Amino acid sequence: MTDSTPMPADDAAPPEPGARVLSGMQPSADSLHLGNYLGALVNWVRIQQQYDAFFFIPDLHAITVPQPPEELRQRVRRTAAQYIAAGIDPERSTLFVQSHVPEHAQLAWVLICSTGMGEAARMTQFKDKAAKQGADHAGVGLFTYPMLQAADILLYQPHGVPVGEDQKQHVELSRDLAQRFNHRYGETFRIPQPMIPEGAARIYDLQNPGAKMSKSAESPSGLLNLLDSDKQLAKKIKSAVTDDGTEIRFDRENKPGVSNLLAIYAELAGRSTDQLQADYQGRMYGHLKVDLAELAVARLGPVRDRALQLLEDPAELDALLAKGAAKARTVASETLKDVYSKLGFLPAAAA
Ligand code: AMP
Ligand code: TRP
Repeated sequence: MTDSTPMPADDAAPPEPGARVLSGMQPSADSLHLGNYLGALVNWVRIQQQYDAFFFIPDLHAITVPQPPEELRQRVRRTAAQYIAAGIDPERSTLFVQSHVPEHAQLAWVLICSTGMGEAARMTQFKDKAAKQGADHAGVGLFTYPMLQAADILLYQPHGVPVGEDQKQHVELSRDLAQRFNHRYGETFRIPQPMIPEGAARIYDLQNPGAKMSKSAESPSGLLNLLDSDKQLAKKIKSAVTDDGTEIRFDRENKPGVSNLLAIYAELAGRSTDQLQADYQGRMYGHLKVDLAELAVARLGPVRDRALQLLEDPAELDALLAKGAAKARTVASETLKDVYSKLGFLPAAAA
């Protein structure tokens, strides 16, 4: 199975304004963290100004690892509230929950049936996750995860898929599967293009700046959560590990701790690390931390407060998500209908 189109070069022009884009982030923690915010959400908020954007919460993907039901339900709402609080506008963008649109699971099955075992086994995220759990214990859902993701994407005929570098291989698989289906059954799917933000912020763990900030961090104090209190934010920043010496310099290799603080500062303040380095010349780590703590509270505090406010009225939030799902379904059901017909499924006659 090698009938793939070449990937666009990394510098391929982004889709034209007005084009459709789609992305999502798993609801697998009680709070999103600063990496999710600066590495993805901030970019989505910018993107929705120019594109016909679809943002969703992939809860079907979340159950590829066991989830306590009540926790999952809460996490989906919490994730939605954080999307909105960060600036995703449910009037402008289509915001929905994956399991509210059954076409995702339906198209996933079709795509699973046209994926080769070897092709799926090459997915590096699967290999990493399976290695962690021991190959025999990893669920089959983890193996088919990328085909569900391809369904998420292809249902909406998007031009672009804004994701981090780690998801590029999954977008590539979506392109291959779309291409294969089109080749066999005739033009059905648009071939989507990954949109990987240039110079995207990569945020590292405050306690272990050699590792990416991640929900699976060893210690919660290395993670700045979007829903943390002002006090928690300030405390975590003030106890961030710094490096030997005293100089405040942006040098990822020799000063990973300080460089991470500078990078976070730069992102939150909309300034460059060069400018900050100049400002902090001759000053101490403590000064940088105090200022960054203040800035983080000023920038993230209102996002948290807005999210918590939205969560106080779950019925209202659920209604917003229902509206999003209805909008999403009008697009998804059209694609699925076309796919079913091309496959030769017998249409159900009106009863
Ligand atoms: P995850 O929660 O790991 O599935 O991440 C969802 C998205 O958030 C990823 O696709 C990235 O775009 C972004 N992201 C996660 N962690 C970081 C990080 N430490 N730095 C920057 N971006 C991140
Ligand atoms: N796999 C993505 C992640 O872990 C989440 C995701 C699921 C996604 N379906 C998608 C992202 C479709 C973009 C498009 O971050």
